[in-house]
Amino acid sequence: MKIGVLNSGGDCPGLNAVINGVVGAADKLGWEVYGFIDGFEGLLPEGGDYIKLTPNDTIGIAKLGGTILGTTNKGHFAAKVGEGDIAKIPRGIIDAARENVNQLGIEALIVIGGDGSLTTALQMNHEGFNVVGVPKTIDNDLQATAMTFGFDSAVTSVVDALDRLQTTGQSHKRIMVLEVMGRHAGWIALWGGIAGGAHAILIPEIDFDIDKVADFIKQREADGKRSSLVVVAEGARVSGGQLVTKNRGGASEVTLGGAGDIVADQLSAKTGKETRSCVLGHLQRGGSPTAIDRILGARFGVKAVKLIESGKFGRMVSYEAYHVGSVPIEQAVHKLRLVDPDSEMVDTARALGICLGD
Ligand code: F6P
Repeated sequence: MKIGVLNSGGDCPGLNAVINGVVGAADKLGWEVYGFIDGFEGLLPEGGDYIKLTPNDTIGIAKLGGTILGTTNKGHFAAKVGEGDIAKIPRGIIDAARENVNQLGIEALIVIGGDGSLTTALQMNHEGFNVVGVPKTIDNDLQATAMTFGFDSAVTSVVDALDRLQTTGQSHKRIMVLEVMGRHAGWIALWGGIAGGAHAILIPEIDFDIDKVADFIKQREADGKRSSLVVVAEGARVSGGQLVTKNRGGASEVTLGGAGDIVADQLSAKTGKETRSCVLGHLQRGGSPTAIDRILGARFGVKAVKLIESGKFGRMVSYEAYHVGSVPIEQAVHKLRLVDPDSEMVDTARALGICLGD
């Protein structure tokens, strides 16, 4: 039996742990693993662009950030082109991939990806490819899984950044604003903000009023607090409900960024306090995965192989209540899992006295 594995979309701490899990579990079954280079793009060149993977090739990779296979979040297979927009993969691209996969004798494909890549995987499954999905994104915004690997590592980076910003903010009596990733979901901001001791957290799911944030900070100052930490999710909608985007080109989906600067300027103007802003950016995506993401990645990789072994195609590995199971890919895509403003997690933030801007 030969199987393929590829990761697609933005990289994510824990990808190599998944690959290691896939290779280990497949080897135990006597299967060969082909790792396709740069995501789905590796399926396209004549004969395919791949490396064969054995346990010898993956020794020690679980602790490495990035992905040994390379990845891309643009290219010929982009099935998701914007917030909710779905495109069809061109027929010629599907046919070229099918020819290579058939020629190589690959019987099943493991696709490690987020909402966009799993949307592509689902289309390929409908085209007759034997596909199994593995949920990957630091944003933690996939339906049908309580957690994606990579999220814990991203949150850990936010906490580290906040710990650092707190000491310098405290020294200078400043408002320190940290913009974090997460695209249209506020998970990274909410979890990172709570764990890192943020005083205000602004997320896409809760419309905020900048005057309320400014008043909250002025009250903190009146209470003798020297500084305030504000976490702004990149997808938080400032000034009239607009997403703040950057026209950087390249990626198939819109690039967000700049919300933190806008919030910082407004807070500075409204409070009269010195304010500095910092964009954490790709530091949240790079570097070694946390222990949780290494373990989750390993479990997900092994489970993906077991799904193939039992012929359960068109399914995605999922994590619910400490158990790694699976769901139909359909259940995970087309709709993002967002923070519920009425959830226990949001209540926890409020109970801790954190301002959510509403
Ligand atoms: O989806 C993961 C993510 O890191 C988002 O949080 C962020 O908005 C986006 O990818 C950044 O993408 P790129 O690497 O193309 O800048």
